Amino acid sequence: MEESRLQLEYIEKVKKINEGRDLKYCSVVFGCQMNEKDSEKLCGILEKMGYERTGLEEEADLIIYNTCTVRENADKRLFGRLGVAKQYKEEKPDMLICICGCMMQEEHVVKKIRSSYRYVDLIFGTFNIYKFAELLYTRIEAKEQITDIWDSHREIVEDLPAVRKYPFKSGVNIMYGCDNFCSYCIVPYVRGRERSRRYSDIIDEVKYLVSDGVVEVMLLGQNVNSYGKGLSDNISFAELLKKVADIDGLKRVRFMTSHPKDLSDDLIYVIRDNEKIARHLHLPLQSGSDRLLRLMNRKYTKEGYLELASKIRREIPDIAITTDIITGFPTENEDDVKDTIDVIEKVGYDGAFTFEYSKRTGTAAASMEGQLSKEEMQEHFDRVLKKVQEVSKAQAKRFEGYVMETLIEGVNEKDPSMYTGRISRNNVVHFKKDGHRIGEFVQVRLDECAGFYYNGTVQGG
Ligand code: SAH
Ligand code: SF4
Ligand code: F3S
Repeated sequence: MEESRLQLEYIEKVKKINEGRDLKYCSVVFGCQMNEKDSEKLCGILEKMGYERTGLEEEADLIIYNTCTVRENADKRLFGRLGVAKQYKEEKPDMLICICGCMMQEEHVVKKIRSSYRYVDLIFGTFNIYKFAELLYTRIEAKEQITDIWDSHREIVEDLPAVRKYPFKSGVNIMYGCDNFCSYCIVPYVRGRERSRRYSDIIDEVKYLVSDGVVEVMLLGQNVNSYGKGLSDNISFAELLKKVADIDGLKRVRFMTSHPKDLSDDLIYVIRDNEKIARHLHLPLQSGSDRLLRLMNRKYTKEGYLELASKIRREIPDIAITTDIITGFPTENEDDVKDTIDVIEKVGYDGAFTFEYSKRTGTAAASMEGQLSKEEMQEHFDRVLKKVQEVSKAQAKRFEGYVMETLIEGVNEKDPSMYTGRISRNNVVHFKKDGHRIGEFVQVRLDECAGFYYNGTVQGG
């Protein structure tokens, strides 16, 4: 492709400038798996330019922050980090500080950085991430702060270098953006309209990854269930998932995220009938109250969600269902919290992320009346969190004693004589090392459940 050839030329140009210098980069990622995946591409470009990776910002000659803005605390974290980076840069004036990602798609943030953070070298957004090499070259030549933000998507450019965080597992984008406009959510504004990748491109990427040692992939999209809209391929997410699972050499497939309104029966049957597809479904509820679900623009009801969850549990009894819940949405009252708790009990979630509602500029909910006080917010949050923890502990306990196929993901951070792995249901399990290698599948007995993770023992030889 024309564009990727152009970018490869810029990579070469920067590489020439860097020649003979021993340069390091540090990649800092906030947010979701989409950002993780984008940063793997940024790292690939930097390594081709001759930069070597370091985990320490103070050691780096270039830092790239990939930002998230889904909740307000994400913003705060970035500005804290930038303050520290400034001190490093004072000692090392040649250091380059780059910022990209979702937060940069917000005008007020870019304004703030341009006026109060003059030491930032390069600012770009989500739609032109593939231009990183060109932008970095421009910055180096111009010797002044460069900002390039687009307000929408132009083309999908993918055949650029990338380095994977894990050699044995990888995320694979199947779509970009989101069209759902849940009233609290900023993602559609910062990631643009929904667009699906061509089926054949996805399959080719997974096949390539498998040939490169990958055994587990996670298909990524803000709403994978609406995959295929606008494509001439005429293929549904259920069909895509089945085709991916059929790829020889691939051992396990995951996907994120499923919007309940678009989850088809076909998808349930494809998971049920295919052992390679992980026994895990992340099905964000957000709220159990019909009144709030309507205000949130989620397009399903409590009853509809419960029916869906029980159909899934009926068809695939060993599946883990996890969720996201927002507490403190404008006007949330006692009855709403009760409804949410009722759904948590009825579904029996295997895990849940609970978030306090965070007001995002530009979203519909930001201008709604009835924003909650800090105290009310905290009170609702604590009750929901307590219920979620109680329910998911009980769920995890049910699987004590089971032997489960486990992908070894790394050496245990606290105890180097142990490995940490992940079962199909997505729980983590710790067990003694015994000659197996990272990236291998082993059968592990889940001896004891410790909240959301297990301590286990490898079975057989
Ligand atoms: N596309 C995914 C969600 C991506 S954002 C989906 O629809 O399921 C991940 C989670 O962040 C959401 O599920 C929601 O629970 C939470 N979230 C999004 N915007 C939020 C906000 N303004 N305040 C609090 N939580 C929010
Ligand atoms: Fe946000 Fe809703 Fe889109 Fe998820 S589906 S990214 S919550 S707008
Ligand atoms: Fe955050 Fe952007 Fe993902 S806002 S959650 S990094 S799509």
